[in-house]
Amino acid sequence: MRWYIMMLGLLLVFPLTASGDYREEFEQGFLTKTWSGQQPEENFCIECHSSDKMKPEFLTLAEEWKASWHAQNGIACHDCHGGDPKDSSMSMSPHRGFVGKPSPAEVPEFCGKCHIGILKNYMESGHGKAFRSSGNGPNCVTCHGSHGIQQANIDIINEQRCTKCHSYDRARAMKQALFLTEKKIGELAADLLTLRKEGVYIEDQRKNLFSIQAEFRALFHSVDVNLVKDRTDEFSHKLAAVEKEIVSTRQELRSRRNFSAFLLLVFAGMGSALYLLTKTPKE
Ligand code: HEC
Ligand code: HEC
Ligand code: HEC
Ligand code: HEC
Ligand code: HEC
Repeated sequence: MRWYIMMLGLLLVFPLTASGDYREEFEQGFLTKTWSGQQPEENFCIECHSSDKMKPEFLTLAEEWKASWHAQNGIACHDCHGGDPKDSSMSMSPHRGFVGKPSPAEVPEFCGKCHIGILKNYMESGHGKAFRSSGNGPNCVTCHGSHGIQQANIDIINEQRCTKCHSYDRARAMKQALFLTEKKIGELAADLLTLRKEGVYIEDQRKNLFSIQAEFRALFHSVDVNLVKDRTDEFSHKLAAVEKEIVSTRQELRSRRNFSAFLLLVFAGMGSALYLLTKTPKE
């Protein structure tokens, strides 16, 4: 009998937490986008481009792509280059939407068909204008690469990359303007991850933070230091709201834990009392 009571106690004490898998949910959200098709099981672009039929100088591209953030998010060769990954002989036919290798001038639109907000800010920026009028500005690939693209962060702004065309002063001013907001975004993302690992449902806050981040990083592409500074307060407020929710979730979690510990003590007490009660008469 006492075991039943103990078991019941344990069941009550450990709150059941069912949290959806992050990847699964992300993919569901992602697959609703217009440009995302299901990836075929057998992909001839990757197969042929990884085989020894391929020119050695092209072979590394497929390898780079496999290690990229795009590959991890289901963006394959044909999502960027078009073509048909399921039909080996027709895969690179223009009749199957193959567009081939973009010329430098085509790169912004090529990437911008998916990264729409960024394309807009970039086109209106000093960089975009210089790039279009004289080809002197950097395009997406100058800063991000093409096949081995990784998650972005402010370390992309460094002396090596940003002094090819002008002094580092401008780049440094931009990095400083981004720094505090990026730091806060990083901290909040880490807090949310910790909560998630503890089994707390934080999807709404996570999506909210993700969209604040996307908006802020699109703003970077204006390369307008004053605009970033002017809008920093607005982003601080948005991030403060996310932080407030995290703090209150933490408090709630703590009081729930304390209550659980209390229940555990009560049940343990009842358990041992019962144990003693059943024991004593026999002796
Ligand atoms: C049967 C082998 C094979 C398949 C399948 C294949 N490719 Fe290729 N691809 C090649 C070869 C070989 C070249 C190099 C052509 C050359 O420049 O000599 C090439 C070149 C390319 C280029 C560069 C073209 C240019 O304009 O310089 C791109 C981009 C490309 N492939 C993308 C794709 C995509 C996307 C797919 C799938 C939809 C695909 N390939 C499927 C063999 C293949
Ligand atoms: C995120 C978009 C993107 C994806 C995904 C992508 N490419 Fe490319 N690819 C580019 C861009 C942009 C270029 C233009 C050249 C450059 O800037 O590197 C290019 C150029 C190429 C070239 C020509 C390289 C040269 O030096 O002439 C080949 C071949 C190629 N891609 C094949 C592939 C294959 C095969 C895959 C899949 C394994 C793939 N690409 C996936 C964006 C992409
Ligand atoms: C077919 C749609 C598509 C195309 C075309 C495309 N991307 Fe992406 N890109 C995505 C998706 C989906 C992700 C993953 C979700 C995310 O991280 O935002 C991503 C992620 C990225 C990231 C990392 C974002 C982060 O979270 O830090 C960068 C940088 C990036 N892409 C740059 C480029 C560049 C540069 C090109 C052109 C060479 C390009 N993309 C072309 C769909 C695309
Ligand atoms: C391929 C050349 C090139 C590279 C690489 C480059 N820039 Fe620029 N940058 C330009 C040009 C061209 C302009 C606009 C014309 C001018 O004002 O001189 C510019 C302007 C700027 C401005 C001022 C914009 C304005 O509206 O006042 C900033 C800030 C800037 N760049 C930051 C950066 C950062 C950060 C990097 C590195 C991630 C970088 N640049 C890399 C060419 C480049
Ligand atoms: C002058 C260098 C430069 C150029 C040109 C550039 N980017 Fe970026 N990009 C960056 C930097 C730096 C960040 C990170 C900003 C931050 O962390 O606040 C970034 C961030 C991103 C992200 C991540 C956004 C997110 O939500 O996490 C994507 C996607 C992206 N860039 C795509 C592009 C595309 C597409 C183009 C061309 C239309 C482009 N970039 C042109 C430097 C550049």
